[in-house]
Amino acid sequence: MLQQVEFYYFSPTGGTRKAGEIFCRAIARQLREVDLGKEMHPTASQKADLSVMAVPVFGGRVPAAAVERIRELNGEGKRAVTLAVYGNRAYEDALLEVNDAVEECGFQIAASAALIAQHSIVTFVAENRPDEADAREIREFAQEVEKKLQMEQTEKIQVPGSRPYKDGMKGGSTPMMLDTCTKCGRCVSVCPVGAIDKNSGGITTDAGKCILCMACTVKCPEHARILPPPMKAVMDEKLGVLKDIRKENEFFL
Ligand SMILES: Cc1cc2nc3c(=O)[nH]c(=O)nc-3n(C[C@H](O)[C@H](O)[C@H](O)COP(=O)(O)O)c2cc1C
Repeated sequence: MLQQVEFYYFSPTGGTRKAGEIFCRAIARQLREVDLGKEMHPTASQKADLSVMAVPVFGGRVPAAAVERIRELNGEGKRAVTLAVYGNRAYEDALLEVNDAVEECGFQIAASAALIAQHSIVTFVAENRPDEADAREIREFAQEVEKKLQMEQTEKIQVPGSRPYKDGMKGGSTPMMLDTCTKCGRCVSVCPVGAIDKNSGGITTDAGKCILCMACTVKCPEHARILPPPMKAVMDEKLGVLKDIRKENEFFL
């Protein structure tokens, strides 16, 4: 086990964090967790034996806010493990993109993985993953990583994806508010990109900023924020075919 691991995650609905924690708990005695959804200017710890960066896949890319926050770190040659967590469709350029960002800020990537978690929009896809079988694989990967970290020289990790990366998702849509909204402001505080504003008139969402990450819909205590039903129906229809397909986690080291 490593003495101290720092775990940076951007996880609007918790799947990325859940997958990353399985890895971190299997390799670390002590964990320093940094929520990149809240921490705009994170700083790397000098003491850490390993840094783990876990990001979700949105439209085959990494959410821009997550990349921006990772870029604030100064790796100073420290070893890192990167995890791209996706909802059973595809991760396309996301793992390559996070690896580029992590290397550009001075970390040396020892290993990477593309892991499956429940789809945060179409929740019946990859429902309840990572499950026990995933956890076993992730723990085995952690053991392999630990062995690799003991070696002096390592080759550069190769992961799928291409540059230039595919175009990111187009914005313009936001979740909607139902009449049951009590204007408690929880959505405002959980939004990782500051897209929701509580003003004297009520709650407003900036469509230019919203990344449709679903944090506000999942964390609303009244279940009063939802995707507009026509949009949800299109997504359910498009991704429904993935319901009974089990994609496998992929490990690179
Ligand atoms: C806006 C958006 C776009 C997504 N795009 C993809 C995708 O391209 N491929 C995929 O397999 N899953 C996709 N997903 C599913 C997420 O990658 C997956 O559910 C992830 O675990 C979400 O992380 P979180 O639970 O930490 O929020 C998308 C989810 C959202 C909200």
